[in-house]
Amino acid sequence: MEENFFTNKLAGKETRRPPVWFMRQAGRILPRYQQLKEKYAFHELMNDPELASEVTLMPVYDLGVDAAILFSDILVVPVALGMEMSFTGGGPVFKQPLLSFDGPSKALKPDAGKLEYIYRNIDAIIRNRPAGTPLIGFCGAPLTTLCYMYQGTGANSSFPDMVKFLYQNKQEARKLIEAIADMSVEYATNQIRHGVDAFQLFDTHAGLIPVELYMELFWPAVQKISGAVKATGTPFIFFPKGLGTGIRSVTPDVADFVSVDWQMPIRHARELVHFDVGLQGNIDPRLLYATENEIGKELEKYIPFYQEHPRFIMNLGHGFLPDIPFDHARFVVDWVKSARWL
Ligand code: CP3
Repeated sequence: MEENFFTNKLAGKETRRPPVWFMRQAGRILPRYQQLKEKYAFHELMNDPELASEVTLMPVYDLGVDAAILFSDILVVPVALGMEMSFTGGGPVFKQPLLSFDGPSKALKPDAGKLEYIYRNIDAIIRNRPAGTPLIGFCGAPLTTLCYMYQGTGANSSFPDMVKFLYQNKQEARKLIEAIADMSVEYATNQIRHGVDAFQLFDTHAGLIPVELYMELFWPAVQKISGAVKATGTPFIFFPKGLGTGIRSVTPDVADFVSVDWQMPIRHARELVHFDVGLQGNIDPRLLYATENEIGKELEKYIPFYQEHPRFIMNLGHGFLPDIPFDHARFVVDWVKSARWL
């Protein structure tokens, strides 16, 4: 594989600028993706290896990012656990959310075979990618995955019934968390077997509950997934959005990099997290609504930070929002590539 900033940075090598890629880069803001979406539904894109590969690689060509992230979704794991789910205009909807069951763990019917089509997509991406382009695999962390499985939709982003359930029925919650973690281990290691170069675990809703409860209920499951990924020698990135000072727990045995949310100043994150863990992040996606001039000015703050702390990957502090101008995303990549970092 040719030299690549992302691959080198993950390997602990020095690079003259930080690598750059974006959460939710495959889709949404890309004009060519919008065009494809006029012809195909999400599940149609996902079920055709050539189309899934095309969307995965689109941001590499159209935005110039240093890495591709697999075009898929975190909610494929609940489907492999036996739940029926569809994407409607308003987001994901589960036919029978776990809140409608008395003993929800008995409602799950794990079948890892339901994830096979995604490995065909990875094979196609590996075949089609430009030389030297790393591919990031991913899945949802158990908390965020459970939020959607239990509540059934993301309509209420505080997922009140799920949090209530955690307090009312810890034992049953632990069974669900374990089922999600086991399927995620299988899914992650298969992605790696098919050739992903790095793995990111998305915990978008980690901030819903107190850090202590997160550590008690979810941390062993995060460790299980990270342990399985790291045992293969594949770099592991963890994105626990809203965990606050809880990111202190992300030690080098758990993750190679932690993806910092936009709430936390990057320097505070650097003080909290073990020095051997690199940082990724943490541009507020909404900054991209501002003018290019203002975006550039805001990005300047990363230059002195990078000079002091070069184990850094430029990214957003959460995914792109659908109405962010494509030109502004492109501007950020060009800015990162042309700025004087050292
Ligand atoms: O980063 C990438 O571009 C790779 C692909 C990717 C998708 N979803 C594609 C997708 C990734 C990494 C995700 C992660 C994901 N999915 C998260 C964690 C990160 C985050 O953004 O918080 C979560 C919470 C989900 C759940 C989910 N999937 C929601 C709430 C929705 C609906 C709203 C939305 O984001 O579009 C989805 C659907 C989804 N996931 C689409 C895509 C391209 C749109 C489907 C469609 O157009 O019908």
